[in-house]
Amino acid sequence: MEVIIESTQEAASLLAAKMIAALVHSKPTAVLGLATGSTPLGLYRELARMHRDEGLDFRQVTSFNLDEYVGLGPSHPASYHHFMRENFFQHINLPAQNTHIPDGLSTDIPQTCEEYESSIRQAGGIDLQILGIGSDGHIGFNEPSSSLASRTRIKTLTPRTRADNAPFFGPGEEVPQHVITMGIGTILETRQVLLLGFGEKKADALAAAIEGPISPLVPASALHFHPRAHAILDEAAASKLQRNEYYRHVFTNKPLWQRL
Ligand code: F6R
Repeated sequence: MEVIIESTQEAASLLAAKMIAALVHSKPTAVLGLATGSTPLGLYRELARMHRDEGLDFRQVTSFNLDEYVGLGPSHPASYHHFMRENFFQHINLPAQNTHIPDGLSTDIPQTCEEYESSIRQAGGIDLQILGIGSDGHIGFNEPSSSLASRTRIKTLTPRTRADNAPFFGPGEEVPQHVITMGIGTILETRQVLLLGFGEKKADALAAAIEGPISPLVPASALHFHPRAHAILDEAAASKLQRNEYYRHVFTNKPLWQRL
């Protein structure tokens, strides 16, 4: 895994946006895997700015989101359908019919999950997957103990993840127990991964994922099986990495042809 440490969350988000813009320029029909939560907000803002000011064109892009809460419809303010519309889709020219998010209101969840996997295959697979990381090391909503070969399916959130996500819900509102999430196996099949991690709150999970053993107890550690995974972190999130200096050295000394 390539570890890139930027001085701030803004700088890290900018770098991730540049990597995505470069992909969309070179492959206008790119298939993007998208995440929600607080982590990718700066990235989405910058991509929207590039669309507005520089004409970055998403017309032929296709997107697949990682996950959705079971029981929340697209109009629920805490649903990931709503999140994506508010924070990204309404600011760019990605056609609505090219966007995919698991259906939280499905009455046949196994069927919905199978169809989701088959839509990804039909689109030709995901070119680049954006990931955040949970404070317990989850990616997507693959909580600790998830199968490293898992596919899109229903998962039960841990109390910790429900507490972490409670601020996105209204006062007195319960965070759903269940979600539909792409599996770790689904994520590992994508062609490139950008794992974003910001803030001290993520430092332990990132140290375990990047420098600890590969384990289902730290789902993000499975990214070591991915041939093209980049972790883009700010200083605080990287603060518990033992090989911090080495990662910086590698990035600074990248051969010119490997740079953006
Ligand atoms: C979101 C997702 C989750 C989040 C993770 C971090 O679609 O799949 O894995 O990326 O829970 O959330 P934030 O960014 O809110 O800290």
